[in-house]
Amino acid sequence: MARRISIAQAPELAMESACAELSAGHPVAVPTETVYGLAADATNPAAITAIYETKGRPRFNPLICHMADLAMAERHAVFDPLSRKLAERFWPGPLTLVLPLKGDSAIHPLATAGLDTVGVRVPMGFASRLIAEFGKPLAAPSANPSGRVSPTSADHVAQDLGERISLILDGGHCGVGVESTIVKVEDGAIRLLRPGGIAAEEIEAATGLTVARPEKAGAAIEAPGMLASHYAPNAPIRLEASSIEPGEALLAFGTDRITGEGNALFVLNLSPTGDLAEAAANLFDYMKKADAAGATGIAVASIPDTGLGEAINDRLSRAAAPRGA
Ligand code: TXA
Ligand code: MG
Repeated sequence: MARRISIAQAPELAMESACAELSAGHPVAVPTETVYGLAADATNPAAITAIYETKGRPRFNPLICHMADLAMAERHAVFDPLSRKLAERFWPGPLTLVLPLKGDSAIHPLATAGLDTVGVRVPMGFASRLIAEFGKPLAAPSANPSGRVSPTSADHVAQDLGERISLILDGGHCGVGVESTIVKVEDGAIRLLRPGGIAAEEIEAATGLTVARPEKAGAAIEAPGMLASHYAPNAPIRLEASSIEPGEALLAFGTDRITGEGNALFVLNLSPTGDLAEAAANLFDYMKKADAAGATGIAVASIPDTGLGEAINDRLSRAAAPRGA
């Protein structure tokens, strides 16, 4: 079983132990503001292979490389002026930029799945201090078995991967709760590859540019990880539910009531006040709770498709997509 160290209670032990594991080429579960990542040395092929094997992740799906700061990112990726502006505005934070990889970057091709681009981001909090201390970028996908719901607490990681890794750093609950927003700048225009923890509207407000939205789930895959079925709990998910079947759990939102709510196995409200940031922070935890309680299905109330609602609805529609897609 993985050793678990609380960052709040033992920050120095957490730092030393994580650096020792990373130097030995072992993946470590690390909290970020979005979700927990399974982090390993992005320059070490054996360490990256261990990430893919631990997750059961297809190798054609590249990993985000996490940096301590913009200066470190500039040593590995080529920044156009607009991408640099986005980095300065939103880092540290839940924004991943897909950029051309520098020819002399030490990031191993296994981390980028052989692409000539690299997804980079600077996370908030302990994760960026760890990267600065370690001195090299950390490749880190979400710390869940491939295709399953991402972890937003150390307990989630322990349940999913506790038998397969040696160290979990416990940073409590992730504040944002959905993965980073991924964008790519092309010819001075911003394309959204994955909605996430920073609303596209915020990027539009910061740049005065329109952010081109991705095709909906099921269309051509631009970020290779955007397979239709993803983020899937065990129980089937039913979206925009207007009534409840017996045995189903209900994920409610706001104050709207749903027909037959009383029949639900239980009701969890993603945000009683209708706050999308709160709903994002609760989403994966509540999906896992519904599973753990043995719900035969998960009915989800309708969620507005604006702001962080775009990321929430993206994850929900992938969770609801036919399995094996
Ligand atoms: O918030 C997050 O982004 C979390 C935390 C741990 O930082 N990480 C995360 O990683 O969500 P992961 O591996 O679950 O998702 C990474 C996504 C995948 O969809 C992958 O295909 C895409 O990023 N990606 C990575 N590099 C890319 C590239 N060069 N071009 C296009 N997409 C890329
Ligand atoms: Mg993931």
